[in-house]
Amino acid sequence: MAKFRADPFAQKVDLGVGVFRDLSGNTPILDCVRRAEQTVLKSQTTKSYVSAAGREEFNSAVEELVLGSSHPARRDRRVRTLQAPGGCGALRVGAELIRAASPTAAVHVSDPTWGNHVPLLGSSGLRLQRYPYYEAAAHELRFDAMLERLDQAPAGDVVLVHACCHNPTGADLAPQQWQALIELLLRRRLIPFLDLAYQGFGENLAADVAAIRQVAEALPEVLIATSYSKNLGLYRERVGALIAVCEDESRADATYSHMLQIARSIYSMPPDHGAAIAACIFADPHLRESWISELAAMRTRIQDMRLLLSQKLRAVTGDDSFDFIRAQHGMFSLLGVSTAVVDRLREQHHIYMTGDSRMNLAGIMPHNAAYVAESIVAARTAVMQAA
Ligand SMILES: Cc1ncc(COP(=O)(O)O)c(C=O)c1O
Repeated sequence: MAKFRADPFAQKVDLGVGVFRDLSGNTPILDCVRRAEQTVLKSQTTKSYVSAAGREEFNSAVEELVLGSSHPARRDRRVRTLQAPGGCGALRVGAELIRAASPTAAVHVSDPTWGNHVPLLGSSGLRLQRYPYYEAAAHELRFDAMLERLDQAPAGDVVLVHACCHNPTGADLAPQQWQALIELLLRRRLIPFLDLAYQGFGENLAADVAAIRQVAEALPEVLIATSYSKNLGLYRERVGALIAVCEDESRADATYSHMLQIARSIYSMPPDHGAAIAACIFADPHLRESWISELAAMRTRIQDMRLLLSQKLRAVTGDDSFDFIRAQHGMFSLLGVSTAVVDRLREQHHIYMTGDSRMNLAGIMPHNAAYVAESIVAARTAVMQAA
């Protein structure tokens, strides 16, 4: 980020930072958020403390958004939800909960995974292990290798899975792969921890949680960390939640009391402002409708750039080797090139991405897609020739 800011080149391109950008390059405040914020400001009468659980109406709206209104686990009163400071807060409380319940359990994370998973989960003291997930150079999921590895995990271990729009690969499991994973988790008695940071960025709000709903129907215990940073653009307001699906109602009560205790011991209570805005949007039919269409516009903007960049790359290379970009989901894809190519893109072409060649597709604009495509191919050729 510092190098990008310091670069004086007028056409520099930032594909590194993990936030949505509109066609003007801004990370906008959604219109529904502005309107809800006005309502919140007008109706708020106190800044007194909230509880460790956060807002009740936010928590139940989150449950409904993720699991649906008639999910059997909700009907059986086996679900408990805690408002948390963003998806990061939810992941951390989840890690502490696992650690309290089962100190020797390992958490299996995908290779590769979002860089923050390691410190967020690992700082709780839990052991982390990696399962094969994606081969960047071949642009392919390693699903068989993933199942093979998880098949060796001892009962009670936890498997962290990105629910949709995998960060950093953009490669998600297909429905039949989710089914096979569910069967393995059941058979091996492993506990899924689903990270949902991009609901609505893949296909739509409902389709993006279809797999979560199936997992929560099939398995007795599931943890879900949700974030509203991206899909409501509430990044700095820190809005998220931890959902625990438990085996029965009494275990759910005991789990919830642990979750509250953990929250109290780390940050006491979650920030209220963003959750108040989110709850207002979830509850008001007009605001919700506006959210759904603004979310669709963000998703379309990213899908358009996926298509455009892959077309430009097709034009430069004359082949379909970058078509994977168009087929993947969410904000990110791994270009699948070496750090030498990433360095050259930055130094010679003023295009910035993370060292693992993760691109934020929302950093592409219609006017620079051709430049990015030409630069990628030029940098790759130059590094190949130098080798
Ligand atoms: C995979 C994944 N999980 C969780 C998060 C947490 O986001 P936040 O704490 O900003 O809500 C992010 C944010 O980038 C993410 O990419």
